[in-house]
Amino acid sequence: MSTTPTHASTHTPAAADEFAGKSALVTGAASGIGLEIARRLADAGASVIVADHNEEGAKEAVEAINAAGGRAAAVRVDVTDPESVRRAVEFTAATYGGLQLAVNNAGIAGASAPTGEYGVQDWQRVIDTNLNGVFYSLRHELPLILASGGGAVVNMSSILGSNGFAGSAAYSAAKHAVVGLTKTAAVEYASRGVRVNAVAPGFIDTPLLQDADSQRDYLISLHPQGRLGTAEEVAELTLFLLSDRASFVNGSYHLVDGGYAAR
Ligand code: NAI
Repeated sequence: MSTTPTHASTHTPAAADEFAGKSALVTGAASGIGLEIARRLADAGASVIVADHNEEGAKEAVEAINAAGGRAAAVRVDVTDPESVRRAVEFTAATYGGLQLAVNNAGIAGASAPTGEYGVQDWQRVIDTNLNGVFYSLRHELPLILASGGGAVVNMSSILGSNGFAGSAAYSAAKHAVVGLTKTAAVEYASRGVRVNAVAPGFIDTPLLQDADSQRDYLISLHPQGRLGTAEEVAELTLFLLSDRASFVNGSYHLVDGGYAAR
């Protein structure tokens, strides 16, 4: 019997105090990848704001984190609304006194249609969430991070931030644009103690893929490792990029894709 693991389901967690004394804002943290990042940040000592438009889910996430001995608070945010984002960042400052770490992760899959048939409202919804939401978040987070003595930001892009995908014009355009936004912010803030990176997951087994269930085998076949990724695997890379271990990693696009882009 082979002992080679096919699923990396357990990881060495970051040291319990790696993010001690730091506050972290994670958008889209009520579910999937964001939830796992929020949990791990709290496990590693950060004070976490779980921000999501799913208020109930955000509260449940906070209860679970606090029950496990972490420190977290929930805030409702709609990342498509700049005022809502401003209030969430203000809530972060009021709750923890500053901000050192931000993960702009909230996102949707959106409608699937060929580009020539893609609905304009469907397009706007995806761009509003997956691109404008990241910009609004950065716009309010960066001044607070500077005022808090510097820190690190991760923007959640995707393998579709460097590749096209039939039916996903809006998603792919938004995720490519997040890479440009990431690089620009990194260049602007590098000399002031803020690093900004993008994480690019392959297809990850989260509720985001629930509408793609009929395509599951096809999606798996795109990954040379022969499976979808897990939220834990994306969180692992994200926490590294947020940590001082990544002190010279800046403005880059980091794949966590089971070999998808290597084909
Ligand atoms: P998910 O659906 O499990 O979680 C997304 C979270 O974002 C949910 O809690 C949702 O309520 C929240 N959200 C959506 N719209 C929002 C809004 N307007 N304001 C505030 N919160 C909002 O999805 P998953 O997979 O965890 O996705 C997280 C990020 O990772 C997204 O940006 C997604 O595009 C990206 N990603 C996901 C991949 C996958 O295959 N699951 C692959 C590559 C990137």
